[in-house]
Amino acid sequence: MAQRETWTTRAGFVLAAVGSAVGLGNIWQFPFKTAENGGAAFVLVYLLAAVLIGLPTILGEFAIGRRAKLNAVEAFDRLDHPAWTVVGGLGLFTGLWILSYYSVVGGWVIRYTIGSLTGGYFGGTAAYFGAVSAGWEAIAFHALFMALTAGIVAFGIEDGIEKATKLMVPSVVLMLVGLAVYAFTLDGSGPAYSYYLSPDMDYLANNLGSVIPFAVSQAFFSLSLGMGAMITYASYLSDDDSLPADGGLVVGLNTLIGVLAGLVVIPLLFVQFSQIPETAAGGGPGALFVSVAQVFGGLGITGRILGALFFFVVLIAALSSAISLLEVVTAYCVDRYEWNRMATAFGFGGVLFLLGTLSAWDTAWLGWFDTLAYSVLLPASVLLGVIFVGWVYGPEAVEEMEKGADGAGQYATLWIWWLRTVVFVGVLVTLYLGVTSIYA
Ligand code: PFF
Ligand code: NA
Repeated sequence: MAQRETWTTRAGFVLAAVGSAVGLGNIWQFPFKTAENGGAAFVLVYLLAAVLIGLPTILGEFAIGRRAKLNAVEAFDRLDHPAWTVVGGLGLFTGLWILSYYSVVGGWVIRYTIGSLTGGYFGGTAAYFGAVSAGWEAIAFHALFMALTAGIVAFGIEDGIEKATKLMVPSVVLMLVGLAVYAFTLDGSGPAYSYYLSPDMDYLANNLGSVIPFAVSQAFFSLSLGMGAMITYASYLSDDDSLPADGGLVVGLNTLIGVLAGLVVIPLLFVQFSQIPETAAGGGPGALFVSVAQVFGGLGITGRILGALFFFVVLIAALSSAISLLEVVTAYCVDRYEWNRMATAFGFGGVLFLLGTLSAWDTAWLGWFDTLAYSVLLPASVLLGVIFVGWVYGPEAVEEMEKGADGAGQYATLWIWWLRTVVFVGVLVTLYLGVTSIYA
């Protein structure tokens, strides 16, 4: 087998992991899922889920990947637990499932980058969104997004992924802070802040059964868990790196960027609609494209430039996430069958493009793919991974966690017990509530 690539620097790994984590989940999805699930109550449960469940889980995936130094499927084999390769397989499937519609939304972002330059949506963002989010145009831009993703993956981790993510994080933060400050100065944004930041405990108490599973699954989606992505990226990592430090950084940055995006989108929705709009075009999946786009639309020529910049940065964030999904299957086929990297990346990109045309044709399909991912695939895949790390791989996982971790290593035992109890129960409940919600 050919010599495996590694990250050239520690920052390379952290940035790529952050690049995988930070994406449409934070900027597009988190704000509208918050708006659909009671505002601040959802934010509160999400923050708890990210720290109490997401962080220990991501550490588990890092520990698998770095020890095995192999793709997310064969990693289980190399750790001498071949039966558990099904967990890797389920993760791989979940990631591909998600990528099929993630790419459709990525296509919308490309469309809006161009639409900003031409002023295409300046006449009315809701109508524009309705026109470009489904149908032939959506399919064309979905194809373009998928081709870009496959193109980057084809170049391999050093030249493609590492470089593509270096500039993304600082620019995302900068743009979101700027827009959040701007939204704050607008008339009518005031009520958004109590909606977004002050939890309605009655709402929470009455809707716990839906808020919990959505928030926990949102944390998984947002942290790229249960899809082999973090296992794969950690497999290119060297042994002197501190997993707890890297995990903390990834979870922290990812959470920060989600919260920031909410501080942009939710106030802008209030400015435009004086409440959270119920229609699919104004709220829901359209929220980002209607509310934020509206601001640029009102700013004339400046708006064209700012809008193009903003959507371009969102595009980079989406691409650096999408490549981590496609990298999972590519790494597998390259490691295992010695397939050509370029052919593998474009081959799977093509298949997923075809699957995604359903979501691009009609947003109802997109919603269905998303619901199945959230309610069943993600929690099921994470649950199996947690069982594996907690019980099957436990002592070795602890050893791996201590490696290169300095002072943080002494908490490794606490971590494994936390995984076996709090995380296990939390994910089990999430899966149960998710599966039963499908039949409701
Ligand atoms: N974490 C990404 C986001 O929040 O947009 C989405 C994602 C990327 C999910 C990569 C899964 C993954 F493997
Ligand atoms: Na994310």
